[in-house]
Amino acid sequence: MKNEAIIEIRDLVAKYGEKTVLDGISVDIYPGEVTVILGGSGCGKTTLLKNMLRLYEPFSGSVRFCGEEILTMDEKAFNRVLQQIGMLFQNGALLNSMSVYDNVSIPLELHTKLPRHIIDRIIRVKLHLVGLSEAIYKFPSELSGGMKKRAALARAMALDPLILFCDEPSAGLDPITSAALDDLILDLKQQLSMTIVIVTHELASIHRIADRIIFLEGGKMLFNGSLPDAKRAGIPQIDRFFEVGKF
Ligand SMILES: Nc1ncnc2c1ncn2[C@@H]1O[C@H](COP(=O)(O)OP(=O)(O)O)[C@@H](O)[C@H]1O
Ligand SMILES: [Mg+2]
Repeated sequence: MKNEAIIEIRDLVAKYGEKTVLDGISVDIYPGEVTVILGGSGCGKTTLLKNMLRLYEPFSGSVRFCGEEILTMDEKAFNRVLQQIGMLFQNGALLNSMSVYDNVSIPLELHTKLPRHIIDRIIRVKLHLVGLSEAIYKFPSELSGGMKKRAALARAMALDPLILFCDEPSAGLDPITSAALDDLILDLKQQLSMTIVIVTHELASIHRIADRIIFLEGGKMLFNGSLPDAKRAGIPQIDRFFEVGKF
């Protein structure tokens, strides 16, 4: 059984000035799967996420979301697409002047016309989902690193996105907190059948959550397939990563 891809990327080329960072990437993202993007520091993982979501405009190529080309969409149509996408980026910090509750309310206030009591209900449900019911009125400065990421995750999921992008969500967390965050993401996948694209180097997490591995090096995709296939592909860089957990 093969579902239709949610996202189809074809021949994506990304540059910063003259420097080509992604040199013709083609990949499909399938619904209900956790896709892990792997590769050494600076290989273009964040660039891939940002270009496929047009946070940077790709140099060339095609990105289809549910069958529709997004690279040539007008802003209004593209905004509708963005509302179906959740993002948990490294720098996607909470607004420090607002409580956790108000941070999660932002996308709901911006993108829906739901009545206040429904918004209130959604905020509480999402914060419960990430285990932050107790911290609902706290401010970011009162939260631990792991709690901040959970709050940002609740905010990313406020609009029930079809797909969630996470760029090194556990970066900067201690190993236990980081494993707990990965478990949470795995729970979300299982409970909500979410589609997730995640950049992580955490071997334990990869073994727990990955359905599909995309391995980038030197602007090219060295591998795209299941985790077991990645391990038997006989690609030295991938073998080394799975042996020592580093590139
Ligand atoms: N805004 C930018 N301007 C110029 N070069 C950039 C910019 N962002 C990233 N780069 C460069 O592009 C390459 C890929 O970066 P990035 O996608 O952040 O890598 P990764 O997320 O895999 O660590 C790196 O060499 C980085 O220095
Ligand atoms: Mg990065």
